[in-house]
Amino acid sequence: MKKIPLSQPFQKFSEWFDLACAKKEIFEPTAMCLATVDEKNSPSSRMVLLKKFDERGFCFFTNLTSRKGGELEKNKNVALCFYWGILGKQIRIEGAVEDVTEQEANDYFASRRRDSQIGAWASKQSQEMQNWQEFEERIAKFNGEFEGKEVSRPPFWSGFRVVPKTIEFWQEGEFRIHQREVYERFEDGWSVKKIYP
Ligand SMILES: Cc1cc2nc3c(=O)[nH]c(=O)nc-3n(C[C@H](O)[C@H](O)[C@H](O)COP(=O)(O)O)c2cc1C
Repeated sequence: MKKIPLSQPFQKFSEWFDLACAKKEIFEPTAMCLATVDEKNSPSSRMVLLKKFDERGFCFFTNLTSRKGGELEKNKNVALCFYWGILGKQIRIEGAVEDVTEQEANDYFASRRRDSQIGAWASKQSQEMQNWQEFEERIAKFNGEFEGKEVSRPPFWSGFRVVPKTIEFWQEGEFRIHQREVYERFEDGWSVKKIYP
């Protein structure tokens, strides 16, 4: 196994991500499937948006009282998966989440549109809703509370950074002769290997 510098898989991620962002056919290049596990080790997955990344990891934002929020409180292990079909590329990331800082959460929340900010206050994400009207009333209530004011970040809304332990780059090939390259994290760097498709 070849040992390689810390930045290398992030650089490669960045190159592939830029290609995806440049393709107008890809409507949501930042969309990634996030898998979590519950107390009984049952997995669940859903899409979230990648909002920033660097050599520390990959960040998304959400409601902390949601199903995923509750699961992440008890088990930090997650998997992410990107698929950009038109490029024939898949990236799989496995690792554990850390909380983003208050500053990071505040900065991203402040960058959102006002209606989305109000939506974050109004949505009891993943909880049962009695009827749609109840939700509309909550939206109206928070619109009223924040009228003429900046919408502050709800205390139950923040973000997570997925700190990767492995990153796999998958490139589609003809006749299913795909290429797979797996990076595995060590303390001071990564190892890299190819695996069969
Ligand atoms: C393309 C796409 C992007 C999404 N991005 C987010 C996101 O960044 N954060 C979020 O909380 N939910 C996002 N959602 C909604 C989630 O998929 C999910 O419905 C919600 O977070 C509740 O999940 P949970 O009940 O497992 O906690 C997105 C959905 C789609 C289809």
